Amino acid sequence: MKIAVIGAGYVGLVTAACFSEFGYEVICIDNDKYKIKKLKKNIIPIYEPGLSDLVKKNAKSKYLLFSNSISKIRDANIIFIAVGTPSSRRGDGEADLKFVFSVVNDISKFLKKGKKQLVITKSTVPVGTGKKIQDIICELRPELINNKDYFVSSNPEFLREGSAIEDFMRPDRVVCGVTDKKAEETLKELYRPLNLREAPVLFTDIESAEIIKYASNAFLALKVSFINEIANLCEKTGGNVQMVAKGMGLDNRIGPKFLHPGPGFGGSCFPKDTRALYASFKKNKIKNTLVKSVINFNEDRKISIVNKIKNLLKPNIKNKVIAFLGVTFKPNTDDLRESPSLEIIPRLRKLGIKIHAHDPAFNSEFKIKEFDKVKWYSNVLDAMKNADLLVIHTEWNEYRGLDLLKVKKELKNPIILDLRNIFNLDDVKKFNIKYYGIGFKS
Ligand code: UDX
Repeated sequence: MKIAVIGAGYVGLVTAACFSEFGYEVICIDNDKYKIKKLKKNIIPIYEPGLSDLVKKNAKSKYLLFSNSISKIRDANIIFIAVGTPSSRRGDGEADLKFVFSVVNDISKFLKKGKKQLVITKSTVPVGTGKKIQDIICELRPELINNKDYFVSSNPEFLREGSAIEDFMRPDRVVCGVTDKKAEETLKELYRPLNLREAPVLFTDIESAEIIKYASNAFLALKVSFINEIANLCEKTGGNVQMVAKGMGLDNRIGPKFLHPGPGFGGSCFPKDTRALYASFKKNKIKNTLVKSVINFNEDRKISIVNKIKNLLKPNIKNKVIAFLGVTFKPNTDDLRESPSLEIIPRLRKLGIKIHAHDPAFNSEFKIKEFDKVKWYSNVLDAMKNADLLVIHTEWNEYRGLDLLKVKKELKNPIILDLRNIFNLDDVKKFNIKYYGIGFKS
């Protein structure tokens, strides 16, 4: 089986590396010459646990190749489109498909007569995109359609950053949207190596597969916003959101996952996908309140966090110093995309508050305008020196083991606002540190 993956980003690179690990010949293609040059030198531009080793191993064994040239798809049985589908600049939240359609145009030039190639969207695309891809290829290469020389399918990914390889190798399910038995057979063969792990491979029509992706992400985002809203109720009434989440999660219709309160969801998917799903409703003139409320609540959440911080620093906020631990949208990634910190830190700076920040994944990409004048520290305790407040924004494991005695000594005011509840209230109280978590009265 020869596979081409177009797009060497978070999804494309993980997909290419994992399929090459199955022993397939995979070529990963990207039009970013610099990125491909680095990949050919085994320099992986992505902080994803285990990815670097997987790429190096399979590049060495030649199962995994890299190229700038899309013509390389001509020998592939399966062609994955794994390019970005960002929110459109129009601001209506719709997924911008210009990269997808540009790749489809390029692909159509090299599809081979009689080869019965599979063109598969791995990118998250709005319902109806598969059909549009079919129409584009049909228009550009009418001679192919008659002999059914190619098939368009949908195979959305469900990879979480920080555990992407695990999620690929041990998926809860594989979803394949197909229009043809031949496509189904090819995909069954492709995912056969996962049979040993009994990962269910669900075959649907293309539209259902496209909707499954958005509906799954939006539902997970809904769970996060829901528990954040319940956390607000707990803070006012004396409930403990962790106990509430535990009690809810024991109901197997609800499940315990994605019920951890925090500063709001971020990342390259939940925000983008909830906006794109809402846009699909609007485009199809269907009233939608639920997805919209998830989006609105999440935006308001970041403002409410800023207000929480203001209240802890009163009365004189200006020139106060905050030790801000973690800026990425979640641990085990260096991804800042739509992280709540991108909204929270600029608002704190506007209030004249000084930010002393630390993040284990810190790199030069963190020098962005949202973090202008943020002082970065490589040592987490140094970031706390003389700070008026310690804010835990991202639940990196290295923060869970902090020596609270040392923390107290470094802080000017022993106050912790733990936006991820990584500490236990009673443990912290032993050190006479004022502790504020999320979702319980402190
Ligand atoms: C998500 C989906 O989980 C994945 O299936 C899809 O393919 C891509 O989008 P990812 O964006 O990597 O994955 O992160 P995820 O672990 O889902 O977390 C998303 C956001 O929700 C993060 O900001 C995280 O901090 C937040 N979150 C998650 C919570 O605040 N509470 C939770 O209980 C879970």
